[in-house]
Amino acid sequence: MTASRAEGPEPTRLITNPDAAAQLLRAGRLVAFGTETVYGLGADATNAEAVAGIYQAKGRPSFNPLICHFASAEAAFQHVRPNSMAEKLAEQFWPGPLTLVLPRRASSLVSQLAGAGLPTLAVRVPAHPIAHEMLRLADLPIAAPSANRSGRISPTSATHVLAELGGRIAAVLESGSCAVGLESTVLDLSGPTPTLLRPGFITHEMLEARIGALGTAAPGNALLAPGMLASHYAPSLPVRLNATAPMPDEAFLAFGPAPAGGLMFQLSETRNLTEAAANLFQALHWLDEHATLRGFTAIAAAPIPGTGLGIAINDRLSRAAAPRG
Ligand code: TXA
Ligand code: MG
Repeated sequence: MTASRAEGPEPTRLITNPDAAAQLLRAGRLVAFGTETVYGLGADATNAEAVAGIYQAKGRPSFNPLICHFASAEAAFQHVRPNSMAEKLAEQFWPGPLTLVLPRRASSLVSQLAGAGLPTLAVRVPAHPIAHEMLRLADLPIAAPSANRSGRISPTSATHVLAELGGRIAAVLESGSCAVGLESTVLDLSGPTPTLLRPGFITHEMLEARIGALGTAAPGNALLAPGMLASHYAPSLPVRLNATAPMPDEAFLAFGPAPAGGLMFQLSETRNLTEAAANLFQALHWLDEHATLRGFTAIAAAPIPGTGLGIAINDRLSRAAAPRG
């Protein structure tokens, strides 16, 4: 079905009450909410129409599988079958920025659209207290991709969400800023070898310390991680990576000591990767906006060490710099 009701833009409410957010979700409406990673655009995952609304609001070009969010591991494991690795990881890292891909239970009422028709589901239990309260009160699996329009930067504040999706969704639950600032680590535990699909705050090393050696997804394996489009995290200006200094027409994304003058956003003066990760999306938003206004034609990004959280930051930056489709 391609027709949709002719509707004017919906006024988006900024709300502060998790119960009001939960009621809207239960009524099939779209509500953006903050988590410790980024703001998500939530919908009742069991309501395919509501889930379709997510793709519509985001203008996503394809039906990527979405992460289902829960208030507890118990609630999550009603929809997927945990193995012993999943149980160990849930015990250590939930609530927190880790998503587990597991075989879906036949009894799960999560819509196929939310799961993109896959035999697996991605589940996570966010640590943010406001999100937790909303999820507890909604008492439903809540599908939530990052609350940006497709291909744009993930939002880390209610203001970012309103700029991206205002007029397209029912409400934004004001949840403050996002402590981690990068999307969750995605680990596939549905096959014989645990496989890291998306790096994040919970690092490869932290996971291996708990469950032993991981495999890595073949780069560009569209089947394994269908949502990981090469140009997913793109600001509107081109991005040049590993730049030790900006050219005259480039704004600069700095990490540590930087040349004076020009237009610059400092990720972390002291080269702290956690601080840099928390600032990353805000930096890209800010540079994109201000560089365009001031006539710069590109963003040069300083090199980031490829260790620990730097792996996740470089993953995002290389997507931002990927050729545009
Ligand atoms: O931090 C986060 O995870 C945020 C917040 C809102 O929770 N959400 C988020 O969702 O980043 P999204 O839809 O932007 O990313 C979902 C990722 C994609 O890379 C997708 O391909 C992968 O999870 N994914 C979801 N379900 C999957 C499945 N069944 N198998 C493999 N990958 C899956
Ligand atoms: Mg996203």
